[in-house]
Amino acid sequence: MDLHAELRALLESPRGAQAQQVRSLQAQAAKRAHPEEWNTQFGSESLFQAWTSSPLMQALYAKNSAVIRPILDRNPGWRVIELGGGDGRIWDLLRPDDRGEILLIDPQPEVHAQVASRLPTGVSLQSVVDVAQAPAQWGQADLVLCSLTLHHVAGVDKQQRETVGLTGPGKLEVLRRAKAALQDRQGILVLNEASVHCEIDLPVGDPELTDNLIDSYLRRCARAMLDAIDAQPSHPMAGQWLSIAHRWCLDQIAVAELPLSERDVYELDVVRWMALLDRAGFAVQTQGFSDPYRLFSQYICR
Ligand SMILES: C[S@@+](CC[C@H](N)C(=O)[O-])C[C@H]1O[C@@H](n2cnc3c(N)ncnc32)[C@H](O)[C@@H]1O
Repeated sequence: MDLHAELRALLESPRGAQAQQVRSLQAQAAKRAHPEEWNTQFGSESLFQAWTSSPLMQALYAKNSAVIRPILDRNPGWRVIELGGGDGRIWDLLRPDDRGEILLIDPQPEVHAQVASRLPTGVSLQSVVDVAQAPAQWGQADLVLCSLTLHHVAGVDKQQRETVGLTGPGKLEVLRRAKAALQDRQGILVLNEASVHCEIDLPVGDPELTDNLIDSYLRRCARAMLDAIDAQPSHPMAGQWLSIAHRWCLDQIAVAELPLSERDVYELDVVRWMALLDRAGFAVQTQGFSDPYRLFSQYICR
């Protein structure tokens, strides 16, 4: 069987059998060629470009654009703070005559170059090449955009981090900074995150952690990639979508067995994200999924 058929067979087998099947598929898949690891490169040749071209992500960008475009239109000379830029795909929503400023906070220099390359001349980019938890000056903004980034910050808050020996800010503290940055201009937070519980309170090797990761990365994300391939088999990115299902989705399940220091994805489910936004002082105006798999949820908050 080829990888596509093997992944389909896995998805159709009983839930309780899937963790074992993941391990055996990983053992075989490790021998296959692979272009790159999870979410580490953002250039034009990277899997990330295939990721942002997938119907799953295109739906997320469309849902964000529908909210962001009117915010920009209402605030001439707008200022945006973006946490985590990826390949800058969302900024395709900008028009040639847009005037504004984007403060991008992202630890990867390559990401800043990617975002800069998407901006029209009237939009300036301020770059903070660092993580969102770093004590940089953010200033005030009409919009804070945090799309699929906050899950890289371990722990719901500082206290939870301390229970596993980590120091410094967690998600709550980053969200509180976003709230403060939106105060003067009565701005809006647009947050996107997967709905899956894989936070640091689930310890290494916990079967619930493994099953939750399978739920997110295989039952929903890999399925979305396979469906995209089946719907558009001759799409120029179809081969890379299969690589995403293999290298990103399948391999991420092994994260459940890794020490905390090697994990970089710490998600919450919708109920937990809503509770956290409330603690940070945000009123969630709307919450809704951007895809039919109910993987990525968008939160519009004031
Ligand atoms: C999955 S990508 C999402 C990119 C983009 N926002 C999108 O929706 O396509 C995550 C981005 O967050 C950045 N990132 C990772 N950890 C971060 C952190 N602690 N603070 C800020 N950005 C971070 C990565 O470099 C990457 O650009």
